[in-house]
Amino acid sequence: MKKILLAVFLFSVTTCFSQQPSLNIIPEPAKVEIKEGIFTLNSSTIFVTRLSQTNNSINFFNDYLKKFYGFKLKTWSQTKTEGVIDLSLKKNNNLIPGAYKLNVSKNKIEISANDEEGIFYGIQTLIQLLPAEKSNSLNVRACNIIDSPRFAYRGLHLDCGRHFFSVNFIKQYIDFIAMHKMNTFHWHLTEDQGWRIEIKRYPKLTQVGACRNGTIVGHHPGAGNDNKKDCGYYTQQQIKDIVKYAADRYITIIPEIEMPGHASAAIAAYPQLSCFPDSSTKIARGVKWSGDSTGKQVQQSWGVYPDVFCPDDYTFKFLENVLDEVMQLFPSKYIHIGGDECPKTYWKESAFCQQLIKDSGLQNEEGLQSYFISKIERYLNSKGRSIIGWDEILEGGVAPNATVMSWRGEQGGIDAAKQYHKVVMTPGAYVYFDHAQSKKEDSLTIGGYLPVETVYNYEPLPAQLSGEEQSYILGAQANVWTEYMNNPAKVEYMLFPRLDALSEVLWSPKENRNWDNFKNRLQQQYKRYDLLNVRYNAQGINKGE
Ligand code: ACM
Repeated sequence: MKKILLAVFLFSVTTCFSQQPSLNIIPEPAKVEIKEGIFTLNSSTIFVTRLSQTNNSINFFNDYLKKFYGFKLKTWSQTKTEGVIDLSLKKNNNLIPGAYKLNVSKNKIEISANDEEGIFYGIQTLIQLLPAEKSNSLNVRACNIIDSPRFAYRGLHLDCGRHFFSVNFIKQYIDFIAMHKMNTFHWHLTEDQGWRIEIKRYPKLTQVGACRNGTIVGHHPGAGNDNKKDCGYYTQQQIKDIVKYAADRYITIIPEIEMPGHASAAIAAYPQLSCFPDSSTKIARGVKWSGDSTGKQVQQSWGVYPDVFCPDDYTFKFLENVLDEVMQLFPSKYIHIGGDECPKTYWKESAFCQQLIKDSGLQNEEGLQSYFISKIERYLNSKGRSIIGWDEILEGGVAPNATVMSWRGEQGGIDAAKQYHKVVMTPGAYVYFDHAQSKKEDSLTIGGYLPVETVYNYEPLPAQLSGEEQSYILGAQANVWTEYMNNPAKVEYMLFPRLDALSEVLWSPKENRNWDNFKNRLQQQYKRYDLLNVRYNAQGINKGE
C-alpha cells in the first residue's frame, strides 16, 4: 500500500512538474522566469529607441505584425514609460554575438542586447510570445529572459542543384533560419543536375548548364523519366537581393561552388573542363534518358558521376574567374568549394593527370585532389577569403587553412580538430534532413531514418576531443539534399520539426535540453506553423513510427 501511495505521490509530482507553465519558446532560452501579469500589444504600442542599429529588428517585427495580425507599430525616440517596447544596446562580455535580455511587464517590454544580433533574437523570442491566432490585441505573458547562443556557427543548407527553388522560397527559407536563431545559410548552387548561379563571363553555364531535358521518376535509377525540360538559375541581381535579405536577418550566406566532382552541368556547358572533352556523358545504368544523349549532358538522375573537372590550366583559370564573380556577390568569409564524392576514374585514365602526378611529386589521385583544393585555397586566401569543404578534403592532406565540414560521420571532424583545423559538424546520422523522419514514411525520400529525437539528442562536441581541440568545433549544420524534394511543401515537411530540434542543440545550454519538455513546446510551435501556413511532420516525434 505504501508503495502504491508513493507511486501516486511521485506520479502527481512529476505530472505537476511537467505541467508547469512554459513560454513554449524554441530554442529554449538560457534562463526564463515567468511573472504575474500581461502586457497588451496593439496598434498603439510604440517602439522606443534612439539607435539606427535597431532598424532591421523593428522592420522585421512590423512586417510580421502586419502580415499575421494586420497592424504595425510606430517608433519614437523620446522617453515613454507605458505601452512601449524599449530597445537598447548594452555592452556585456559575451564572446558569441547574439546575447539579449527580454523583460516583459504589465507596462512595457524591454529588450537589451550586446549587439544588433541580440536585439534581433530578442524580437524573435517576442514573436514566439505572441498568440498563434490572429487578433488585433495581443496578450504577452510577463517574464524575464536572459539568453545567449551556445555555438557561433548555426547552419542550414539547401541543395538548389538537384531541384531549383524560387527566390520567394529562398527568402522564406532564410526566415525559417532566422526564426530558429540560426545564422548561416549554406547555399549549394552547382551540381551534376544543374548550375544555378549566373556567371557573366561564362553565359553557357546558365544557358546550357541550368537546364536538364528530363528527370527520373521515383528512386534512382528510376521507373521512367518525366521528359520535362527543367531549368532554373539565380541572376546576379537576384543573388544581391537575397544576400541583403539574409544580412538584414543577421544570416551569412556561404555559397558552394562544387569542385572537382559533381561538375557535369559545368562540363555540359564547357566540355573543355573535362579531361575527355570529346567523350559523351556517361548515363548511369538503368536510367531512362530524355532527349539527346550524345556529347556532354546535364545529368537527369542522382548519384555520383565520373566526368569531373580536369586539373589543368583551363579549368583553374575558369574556376578563378567564376570565383571572382562569386566573391563579388557574397561577402562571406567562407567560400564552400565542395570537395566531396569525386571519383578518380577519369584522372586515372588521363595521360595529362598521370604526368601531373609525376611532375608534382604526388603519391596518387588523392594527392591530386589535395593539389587541386590547395591551389584553389591559395587563390581564395589571396583574395582574403577562406575555404570550407566536405571532409574528403582531408584525403591526401588537408589544405593549410581549410575549415572542414564533417558529413561522413564525426571522424572527419575529429581528425580535423586534432590537426587544429576549424570544423562544422554535419554528420549524416544526426543532421541529414533528406533522410526519412519515420519508419512508416509514406513519401519518397533518399532513405535512412532520422527521427527528430535523434536530432534532439545530438551533441556536436565529440567526447574524445580535449577541451582545446573542442574549441575548433564552430558548431553544426543540417543538410537538405533535394533529390527527392521537388517543391517547397516537401522541403518544409522534411525540415520541421527537425530544425526545431537542431536549433536547440545549437543555441540552448546543454543542461537545458529536455526531450519531454521540448515535445510539449512543439505543440505550440505547430500552432505557429499553422499560422505561418508552413508544413511539418507531426508524426515524427513518436519514436518508431
Ligand atoms: C554530401 O552529402 N555528399 C556532402
